[in-house]
Amino acid sequence: YVTNLSFCHIIVGGNEPRLVEAANKQLNTLPFYHSFWNRTTKPSLDLEKELLEMFTANKMEKVFCTNSGSEANDTQVKLVWYYNNALGRPKKKKFISRTTSYYGGTCISASLSGIPALHQKFDLPAPFVLYTDCPHYWRYHLPGETEEEFSTRLANNLENLILKEVPETIAAFIAEPVIGAGGVILPTTYFEKENYYSLLVQSILKKYDILFIADEVICGFGRLGTMFGCDKYNIKPDLVSLAKALSSGYMPIGVVLVSPEISNVILSESNKIGAFFHGFTYSGHPVSCAVALETLKIYKERNIIEQVNKISPKFQEGLKAFSDSPIIGEIRGTGLIHCTEFTDNKSPNDPFLPEWGIGAYFKAQCEKNGMWLIVII
Ligand SMILES: Cc1ncc(COP(=O)(O)O)c(C=O)c1O
Repeated sequence: YVTNLSFCHIIVGGNEPRLVEAANKQLNTLPFYHSFWNRTTKPSLDLEKELLEMFTANKMEKVFCTNSGSEANDTQVKLVWYYNNALGRPKKKKFISRTTSYYGGTCISASLSGIPALHQKFDLPAPFVLYTDCPHYWRYHLPGETEEEFSTRLANNLENLILKEVPETIAAFIAEPVIGAGGVILPTTYFEKENYYSLLVQSILKKYDILFIADEVICGFGRLGTMFGCDKYNIKPDLVSLAKALSSGYMPIGVVLVSPEISNVILSESNKIGAFFHGFTYSGHPVSCAVALETLKIYKERNIIEQVNKISPKFQEGLKAFSDSPIIGEIRGTGLIHCTEFTDNKSPNDPFLPEWGIGAYFKAQCEKNGMWLIVII
C-alpha cells in the first residue's frame, strides 16, 4: 500500500474570494471567446506572458493552453511529432516514459503513463511508448548497490534502450520531477546528487537528440519548495506541462510551455502549410485564464515558496515520527508532497495483501481525525 498525503492542489484554500471575484469579473466582461485562427483573449495573453517570466529553468518561448494536464500531455506528443516531421525526421516518433509515472487519462496520456492498470482492458499503451526504470532506490536497488551505482545502472539501462530501439526513432523522454500519483517517488540521487540526473540522463538524451518533456502538473507552483520541480533538480526541459495548481484547482486549465528551438520550427512549418491545426474549443478560456492569473498573483504576494519552506520541515519530520513502526517500509517526501508506504517486515518485497485493507483502514482513521489523503494500492 502506498499512501500519498497532501495531494490536493487547492493551494490557496477552498474559499478564496479573490479567485471567485476574478471569475465573476471575467464572466461579466467576456465570458468566452476562442483561441483559433490567430484570435485569443487578453487574459490568455496575460497569463502566457506571466508563465514565460515565471519559468526560468530553461528559456521557453510559447504557451499553448489546454483544459487539463491530460490534454497538455497529448498536445506534447502532437507537438513533438509535428516538429520532427517539419525537420524531415519522420521516423523519430517514439517516446520513453518511466514505469509508475502518471500523465493522465486520455488515450495518449494514459499510454505515456507507466501504470499497468491504466492500460489493461483499454487496448493501451499505444505502440510508440517505451518504458524505462522507475528511479525508486528503496524498492528497486540490488543487494549492496549504492544510490550512485543504482543511478548509473538506470542511466545505462536508458542508454541501452535507446540504442536497442535505434536513436533515430526516439523523439522524446517524459518525466515528472517527482513521480506523484505513482507513489511519490523521489528520484534521490538519480536526480539530486550534484544534479546527477542532469549529468547522466540529460547528457544521454542530448547525445541522441532526444527532447525532454517535464510534467510539472503536480510539482509546479511550489509543491517541492521551489517554484517548479525543474528548479529543484536542475532539469532543463524542452517542453513543460502545467495544470492543477495553475488555477489552484478553481477552474479547469492546463498549459504546455514550448522552447524557442521547437516553437520556431513549428511556426515556420505552420506558415508553410497555412496554419497550426491543433486546439480545443476552450483552449485559453478567458475565465480559466483570469482565475489562473489571479492565482499566480496570490502566490507571489503571499510568497508561496517561503511559506512551503517554512512549514514543510515540520510536516515531513512530523510524519517521520512513525518510521519505527514495523508496518511502515518507507516514509518519503519533500516540500509538501509526502508518502507513507506500508509493508510487512519493513521490506519493499513484502507488500500487505490488498484484501487486508491496511490502506483503507489508515485512510479512514486519518479522515476521522480531519486529514484527507489518497490511497494507492
Ligand atoms: C503528473 C500528472 N500529469 C498529468 C495529470 C493529468 O492531469 P488531468 O487530470 O488534469 O488531466 C496528472 C493528474 O493527476 C498528474 O498527476
